[in-house]
Amino acid sequence: MHARHALASSVLPALLLLTLLISIAVTLLVPSSPSRRRLPFFRTADPAPAPQLVADDASGGTARAGGCDYSDGEWVRDDPATTAAAYGEDCPFLDPGFRCASNGRKDTSFRHWRWQPRGGSSCRLPKFNGSEMLERSRNGRIVFAGDSIGRNQWESMLCMLASAVPPDAANGTTSRRIYERSGKPLSRHRGYLSMVFADYNLSVEYYRAPFLVLLDRFDNSSNSTVRARGAVRLDALPRHAARWAGADVIVLNTGHWWNPHKTIKSGNYFMVGDRFNVTTDVGEAFKLSMETVKRWAGTTARLANPNGHVFFRSFSPSHYGGGGINGTTNKTWDTGGSCAGHRDPAASSNGGGESDRSSWMMEAMGVSSGTKEKKGDIVLLNVTYMTGLRRDGHPSRHREPGTPPGAPEDCSHWCLPGVPDAWNQLLYAQLLSMGYDARKKRSNKST
Ligand SMILES: *[C@@H]1O[C@H](CO)[C@@H](O)[C@H](O)[C@H]1NC(C)=O
Ligand SMILES: *[C@@H]1O[C@H](CO)[C@@H](O)[C@H](O)[C@H]1NC(C)=O
Ligand SMILES: *[C@@H]1O[C@H](CO)[C@@H](O)[C@H](O)[C@H]1NC(C)=O
Ligand SMILES: *[C@@H]1O[C@H](CO)[C@@H](O)[C@H](O)[C@H]1NC(C)=O
Ligand SMILES: *[C@@H]1O[C@H](CO)[C@@H](O)[C@H](O)[C@H]1NC(C)=O
Ligand SMILES: *[C@@H]1O[C@H](CO)[C@@H](O)[C@H](O)[C@H]1NC(C)=O
Ligand SMILES: *[C@@H]1O[C@H](CO)[C@@H](O)[C@H](O)[C@H]1NC(C)=O
Ligand SMILES: *[C@@H]1O[C@H](CO)[C@@H](O)[C@H](O)[C@H]1NC(C)=O
Ligand SMILES: *[C@@H]1O[C@H](CO)[C@@H](O)[C@H](O)[C@H]1NC(C)=O
Repeated sequence: MHARHALASSVLPALLLLTLLISIAVTLLVPSSPSRRRLPFFRTADPAPAPQLVADDASGGTARAGGCDYSDGEWVRDDPATTAAAYGEDCPFLDPGFRCASNGRKDTSFRHWRWQPRGGSSCRLPKFNGSEMLERSRNGRIVFAGDSIGRNQWESMLCMLASAVPPDAANGTTSRRIYERSGKPLSRHRGYLSMVFADYNLSVEYYRAPFLVLLDRFDNSSNSTVRARGAVRLDALPRHAARWAGADVIVLNTGHWWNPHKTIKSGNYFMVGDRFNVTTDVGEAFKLSMETVKRWAGTTARLANPNGHVFFRSFSPSHYGGGGINGTTNKTWDTGGSCAGHRDPAASSNGGGESDRSSWMMEAMGVSSGTKEKKGDIVLLNVTYMTGLRRDGHPSRHREPGTPPGAPEDCSHWCLPGVPDAWNQLLYAQLLSMGYDARKKRSNKST
């Protein structure tokens, strides 16, 4: 953090300063200073080289649960009367920036789409049952670690679970039953937050880790010719990762930060050990980081809780001017890219530039597919295709209160209730099909 401030006070090329401001905005998610120019949380992905996706395991490469491939299918319009979201924008755990109706969005049709996996009625996703999920998670821990879109999903999960917790009669709130473990305010966007569901002795935690690996201050004591702000340490997990281990469910994500702007061009260089590499390309660096994450999942996480489930939630495309859908337009967040006009999901997606990104990421991840979880496996929660269709689900112009009128749109994050609810529904379905039950772990240990 100090490195950033030191850098800000020196003379910088305009681009670098801009990137710095963006990264601060990202760090805070909801900028705290009203005077700071507000910028979207992410830059859109630059078109990146896209190696062909190669399934890493012999079983074919699709995520299956209950015999269905949940990653592929279509969005089906649902009757708003019968399929209202489990929660509303009044859920106390939502960031102001995700409360789109409160921020002036008039249409709510984006909430009334149901994900229908291919395979007909036999492949209907089970409805998310908050009570069931809470029961199965008793005495457990559910951890989300990743960038601010991971936080988007965490907040969705909190609200979906909270909808199954009855409020206290005295004041109609659940504040006595669901609270942050050490009293941190939810407006905090650094470090981590741990929400306790007291009736279930369950905590649902979020760890900010935009690269998943350690973003460290750069120590140039070993090489004074190098001027850097930070080091993305490809061989080390963030310091708070010690707390991820032992959780019953761990949902990891990363993606939007793996581009030249957030790394090299903003002075965050890649390091392995104490070796520093100016030329490492982002794709190569990402591969190395994923090796580190996989090694951690197979050793540290596995040892801390042999019955824990580790997921990697795949890339969530953004939609600046169609970049995530047709891939034919060329707008980005900073060239007037817009998603505000969309009122329904796209009928089909060829992925566009960002899914190309996603496929090299998934390849590097080498995640296992489906329910045949081997010890140490990371299971892919493949939401990229379904999410790529949802150009209609972003806050767009309806960003957090105080956003200046001319600010770029947010076509990266998601309104809540909204699209991340469907990711959690998929997660729930996958967990059920794996026989997830946090209550079992202690009896298993003693046998
Ligand atoms: C993710 O799902 C989409 C849609 O089914 C599929 O095209 C893609 O190959 C999947 N990716 C992986 C790595 O399984
Ligand atoms: C949800 O799960 C609870 C607890 O397992 C069960 O009692 C209830 O019937 C379920 N609700 C629905 C709508 O399936
Ligand atoms: C609550 O859960 C933790 C594990 O997350 C466990 O160590 C502890 O014993 C549980 N407390 C009670 C009262 O069951
Ligand atoms: C709501 O009432 C409960 C007692 O039933 C109390 O513990 C809690 O602090 C109250 N919450 C608020 C926000 O007043
Ligand atoms: C310092 O970094 C520069 C630029 O990468 C490199 O050329 C040089 O060899 C490095 N020096 C040492 C001592 O590592
Ligand atoms: C590290 O870099 C800064 C400039 O960023 C420079 O002033 C300082 O002398 C360097 N430190 C060492 C030990 O070379
Ligand atoms: C730096 O990165 C390049 C390209 O990925 C690689 O060929 C080279 O070996 C790396 N050098 C060091 C010292 O890690
Ligand atoms: C995508 O392409 C189709 C036809 O190829 C076109 O009708 C549609 O408007 C395009 N959508 C966007 C968002 O560019
Ligand atoms: C997007 O813009 C870049 C550079 O401005 C250009 O090279 C590329 O051809 C454009 N792509 C499309 C699909 O228009």
